[in-house]
Amino acid sequence: MHRRIIAPGALAAASLLLAIPASAASYSPGAPGIGDPYYPYYGNGGYDVSHYGLRLRYQPRTDELRGTATISARTTQDLSSFDLDFLLDVSEVRVNGVKASFTHAEQHELVITPKKPLAKGTPITVMVRYSGVPSTKSAYGFTTWHRTPDGAVAADEPESAWWWFPSNDHPSDKATYDVSVTVPEGTRAISNGALRSTSTKRGWTSYSWRQDRPQATYLATLAIGRFDITTSRSGRGVPVINAYSEDLGADDAAARASVERTGEIVDWLSNYFGPYPFATAGGYIPNTTTGYALETQTRVYYSPKQFAKGANPSVVVHELAHQWYGDDVSLKGWKDIWLNEGFATYAQWLWSEHEGQGTTRQLAGQVYSSHPADDPFWKVEPGDPGPDDQFDDAVYDRGAAAIQALREAVGDHAFFRILKGWPKAHAYGNASVADFEAYAERISGKPLAGLFDTWLYRPAKPTASAARGFAAAGTSVPRPKSWKNIEAAHDGHNR
Ligand code: TRP
Ligand code: ZN
Repeated sequence: MHRRIIAPGALAAASLLLAIPASAASYSPGAPGIGDPYYPYYGNGGYDVSHYGLRLRYQPRTDELRGTATISARTTQDLSSFDLDFLLDVSEVRVNGVKASFTHAEQHELVITPKKPLAKGTPITVMVRYSGVPSTKSAYGFTTWHRTPDGAVAADEPESAWWWFPSNDHPSDKATYDVSVTVPEGTRAISNGALRSTSTKRGWTSYSWRQDRPQATYLATLAIGRFDITTSRSGRGVPVINAYSEDLGADDAAARASVERTGEIVDWLSNYFGPYPFATAGGYIPNTTTGYALETQTRVYYSPKQFAKGANPSVVVHELAHQWYGDDVSLKGWKDIWLNEGFATYAQWLWSEHEGQGTTRQLAGQVYSSHPADDPFWKVEPGDPGPDDQFDDAVYDRGAAAIQALREAVGDHAFFRILKGWPKAHAYGNASVADFEAYAERISGKPLAGLFDTWLYRPAKPTASAARGFAAAGTSVPRPKSWKNIEAAHDGHNR
């Protein structure tokens, strides 16, 4: 057709006639990434998810996972198409009940084109029917779906959702979850939140879990296998659900001696961080060969290896501290990781002091004095470590020392107000390191830019005067007794 100029009124009339939106020109594809500079393709643009409803079936013999995801979302721009992050094979997609076309693109993108473009600000329901063998799928050359002799586990950071459900995979888009999983009778399925029902029909058992508080995608977890499940309540009434693989062998007693302290530790942490933010607490220990733990929301993932040398409640303290710092208040972007790991490590330091195994000041001194100025440890900036060093020891240990430096600068009264006020200020939401800096300045009434700059944003060892009272503390005492157990909490998470 040749070009000609049309009066705006005529264009609107033509649009009406053709039943296309008047502003068709503004409909565009949602971005394939949500805009995180560390991971350009993680998450997606153009919509915001409020709920994931997953109905899955898993066969441990073949590692085959199949089912449907029903995603409730709202568009945040006029969309001609949008992406989900997902690796399994898709057989059908419906948007608002109408079949949509779809295609797998680069890495882990599933591109969905609805029949009609979607106007900004409308609620949408996206149904994805899928199946696949997660252990055979990889993106960027890895898979994080862990097979076990009797099942499988999804628990990893920052990537784990792509292998088991389609999502907007970024912590800045939190949603509630209903996860219903059908497995062969005798096998159990564990996920986040509360167990709403179980039922068995013709040799298959369905487990329905509900997470009724906003949850980041990497904090959603699924474990299938033969588990022993324990239930109890903390002294303050938080329901606790733990699960132990029936196959833990020699590690079983030490795992139970640690993880059965969940209720006690949740109550203890709530003295510092405020009331526990979720409906249930707990953890699970599958028969995996990994070495790490992960703060999966309300149902922490622990590796048997962490208990191979005996009980270690310090790792339980770390992961439960994340329920406030990481899960309740989640990162705005992955560069904000110090808000998770610095504070979870600091909670272990508080626990050490509580157990009489070394004070927070001694532990900060240990970090300060055990790394000489030319140690690459000091090259990592905890406030913006870069994707390659996101989980470097420095984010944890220098990160916790930064918190001790803050405490020494503002005094205990303001410090503990900050520690408890922060989760309340951003409950069930997202925040950045910059937000924390502003908050700490506001609560303490002190200018803190210099302190944060020194501790979070310089590739250099802070001076002894910046290390306040603890510069000398590390050298003047023997290594705190708690040190090994503290470090074990962030051992083994490097692939
Ligand atoms: N966030 C986890 C913790 O502190 C540690 C972690 C970092 C991790 N990278 C991971 C866990 C990869 C599992 C996979 O406890
Ligand atoms: Zn951690």
